[in-house]
Amino acid sequence: MSQKPTAATPATTHTTPESHDPSRRDFMMLTACGLAGVGAASAAWPFINSMNPDAGVLAASSIEVDLAPIQVGQTIKVKWRGVPLFIRHRTPGDIEEARKVPMGELKDPETDEARVKKGHDQWLIMVGVCTHLGCIPLTGEGEFGGSDKGGLFCPCHGSQYDTSGRIRKGPAPKNLTVPQYSFLTDSRVKIG
Ligand code: FES
Repeated sequence: MSQKPTAATPATTHTTPESHDPSRRDFMMLTACGLAGVGAASAAWPFINSMNPDAGVLAASSIEVDLAPIQVGQTIKVKWRGVPLFIRHRTPGDIEEARKVPMGELKDPETDEARVKKGHDQWLIMVGVCTHLGCIPLTGEGEFGGSDKGGLFCPCHGSQYDTSGRIRKGPAPKNLTVPQYSFLTDSRVKIG
């Protein structure tokens, strides 16, 4: 990828961005699902890599991420408290796709508005761990991404999530978790 997002620092961790490499995705997916544990799986993934504080610090840690380099339609991954986070700069199509879905069609009903911060609707931040058995879904895949490909697909058991990270198909019972976070500025977010 030609443009690497610079991200995360301060609080208690420092992150260094790495690119999302689709060519490695299948291998990494299999590794992640085979381990069935995100802590162990994370070593094989191209997350923006946090330096590893000791366990006590890790448990309480928060990270700050600079969103400015993340282009519209791009999803980056960062490691936070030992799990992957997906941060997507959603397109208008992503948002439209998510908001037109009737609540009655959702297994875990939740509005798109409730999963983002008001005024920052283009940013979707989620824990990238499938709520079925803990695999790491593929981003930009599946039947519920709309024309902008903002959905997610978990190939091990076929769960599919939409452009709001809500479960739409497959065995996963819940939407992808939205962590606690807040915007420090329009382009900087503190997670945790
Ligand atoms: S772990 Fe994702 S569908 Fe089973």
